[in-house]
Amino acid sequence: MRRCLISANWKMHGTVASVQDYLEKLLERLGADHPEVVFCPPFTLLPTALLIASGSDVAVGAQNCHWETKGAFTGEVAPAMLAELGVRWVIVGHSERRQHFGETDASAAARARAAQGAGLSVIYCLGETLEQRDAGETFAVLERQSAALAGLDPALLAVAYEPVWAIGTGRNATPAQAQEAHAALRRRAGELLGEAAARELRILYGGSVKPDNAAALLAQPDVDGALVGGASLDVEGFCAIIHAAPGSRRGA
Ligand code: PGA
Repeated sequence: MRRCLISANWKMHGTVASVQDYLEKLLERLGADHPEVVFCPPFTLLPTALLIASGSDVAVGAQNCHWETKGAFTGEVAPAMLAELGVRWVIVGHSERRQHFGETDASAAARARAAQGAGLSVIYCLGETLEQRDAGETFAVLERQSAALAGLDPALLAVAYEPVWAIGTGRNATPAQAQEAHAALRRRAGELLGEAAARELRILYGGSVKPDNAAALLAQPDVDGALVGGASLDVEGFCAIIHAAPGSRRGA
């Protein structure tokens, strides 16, 4: 059975004071019955987030990690460095990394394997561009990008379907478009990870998730959560998205 997972991706936003204030409010408002929540601030804010979230059931995640355990990689952070802090999750292969920082399917796969090797759970991001969707290539792109899942441990994995045209644009995929892509990804995960693991795999939707569209997206049978960018910066909005998630577990 799959427990809904709602993750905040703060991207390159926030200060020590704002994380502190936000997490205190988030913990106050969360209530007892809620989906799994993962908060992913920039690297510099991880210690503050971990301190405030410690003892709560909000997990803290990073937004990237390197594929090597150590070495001459100026500016990079190794997975074990994150794990040592108490970080439990890491976002890998986000489209902004692919678009602006040369991330490829191969480098994203290497990062994900290394992260899992250090005991971190991975939110593995994939999704098509508008050109690819318009050219009818969506499912071919998802098939190619998801090949990386074959080398991963399903127990430390969630997948995020994030159509690039929906990220930060205010234009979300419709619930039907999301469901169609998620169902295809679950079938693909079945081939790559086995049917049992695919039934347990959380597939999150990301791309302009807002308080007013979250419930319809999360009501889809194969949408098991959300990776929320812009709308996660506002604690009220993020709480509204969390509370729009179906309370019960779902799946086979
Ligand atoms: P958005 O970002 O919610 O601002 O569209 C989502 C993401 O990039 O993960």
